[in-house]
Amino acid sequence: MKHRSLDIIRDEHSSLAAMLQSMRMLVERGPGDDPKNFFDVLRAMLFYIDEFPERLHHPKETELLFPAVLKGSPGTADAIARLDRDHEYTEKAVRDIQHLLLGWELLGESRRVIFTEAFTKYVDMYIEHMRMEEQEVLPAAEKTLSEAEWKALDDAFAMNCDPLTGKYKPDPVYDRLFTRIVMRAPAPIGLG
Ligand SMILES: [Fe+2]
Ligand SMILES: [Fe+2]
Repeated sequence: MKHRSLDIIRDEHSSLAAMLQSMRMLVERGPGDDPKNFFDVLRAMLFYIDEFPERLHHPKETELLFPAVLKGSPGTADAIARLDRDHEYTEKAVRDIQHLLLGWELLGESRRVIFTEAFTKYVDMYIEHMRMEEQEVLPAAEKTLSEAEWKALDDAFAMNCDPLTGKYKPDPVYDRLFTRIVMRAPAPIGLG
């Protein structure tokens, strides 16, 4: 039996991974001779992560997926405790990083290292987080979740419609933000 929420979770992970990779490339390149564009697009990308994965993806994992998996597969307890802690960390970290970016933009090069360190830690942690979910939590879910639990998950994740997956049109509210990212960010997320 195929479960729609599993596809959605994997799609959202790959679009987030693409976003992180694209941001990492931007940060490595640095502001160059177009600092306005550099800070604009990076800010838009961080804001997007704050709006989508942080508000729509993680809370549904923490509230619906993890408790169901834990019930059926108690051996996942350590992994799930760590993943829950990660969710708390990333939610706060994405704001902290937006603030550190502002420091770099407004105060200049002296703030570049502190931003880059926090950003790199955040990206590395996030990639590992998604790997752990895919390799430990999702397979456990496939073994033990009931049909009722799948239904609740499928319904909840179907509401996300993250346009970054390329499968949904952005909500009009996000249209401008989304276009701005796609036009200016480097591959794999954008055309810039
Ligand atoms: Fe997660
Ligand atoms: Fe996830």
